[in-house]
Amino acid sequence: MFSFFRKNSSVPQVDFSTVVTDMHSHLIPGIDDGAKTLEDSVTLIKELHALGYKKFITTPHIMSDFYRNTPEIILEGLEQVRQAIKAENIPVTISAAAEYYLDDGFIHKLEEEKLLTLGDNNHLLFEISYVNAPDNLMEVIFRMQVLGYKPIMAHPERYPFWGNNFDFYGSLRDQGVLLQLNVNSLSGYYGPDAKRIAEKLIEKEWVDLIGTDTHAMKHIQALQRTVKEKSFRKVLEFNLLNKHL
Ligand SMILES: [Fe+2]
Repeated sequence: MFSFFRKNSSVPQVDFSTVVTDMHSHLIPGIDDGAKTLEDSVTLIKELHALGYKKFITTPHIMSDFYRNTPEIILEGLEQVRQAIKAENIPVTISAAAEYYLDDGFIHKLEEEKLLTLGDNNHLLFEISYVNAPDNLMEVIFRMQVLGYKPIMAHPERYPFWGNNFDFYGSLRDQGVLLQLNVNSLSGYYGPDAKRIAEKLIEKEWVDLIGTDTHAMKHIQALQRTVKEKSFRKVLEFNLLNKHL
């Protein structure tokens, strides 16, 4: 259950421990726009642990243009982070997958390589352009599924071109795509449109996972505001896949 207590009269504290796993973050140093140094990684993990998270599946960007990460680069960085956590005695576990950007390079990787997935059930986290949806989105999703992956769309509320087309979100879920909300959307961190769409997705109970998408301390500070939102408490009542990863 969600637990809520107060350290003092004005600052609500929340316990994210019921979520168990934060499955979307950028905690490996120097390989994307997330943590810059190993020290940053440790600080962010300590802060997320203080909020109640016990387990992390961190998800560096893989893009053909900006972040040309490979499983080898990611797993090598993960090892450094694991050693630092051990040295600091932080009682959490961390593994890594990736946040795949749907571009031409992704389609090539999908056919040629074993992609990095979350947990034991081949869940694949992907994002798309914030400018427009790829024309072949549904075909690529279908291809992922044919190859045995279970696609998770990262932060569907952040794609403004679907603003009011809730039938489309419904059709994605009918197609077997899981939807992962960025919790900070609920306090307006990504703007009013993302907040509105996020709230609507919660109202329709179309949220399968939540993630912090932590890149830096600003996201931790936003989480402190997010926990005050009513919609946040509601999403914690869902049977989120986070608990089973
Ligand atoms: Fe992300």
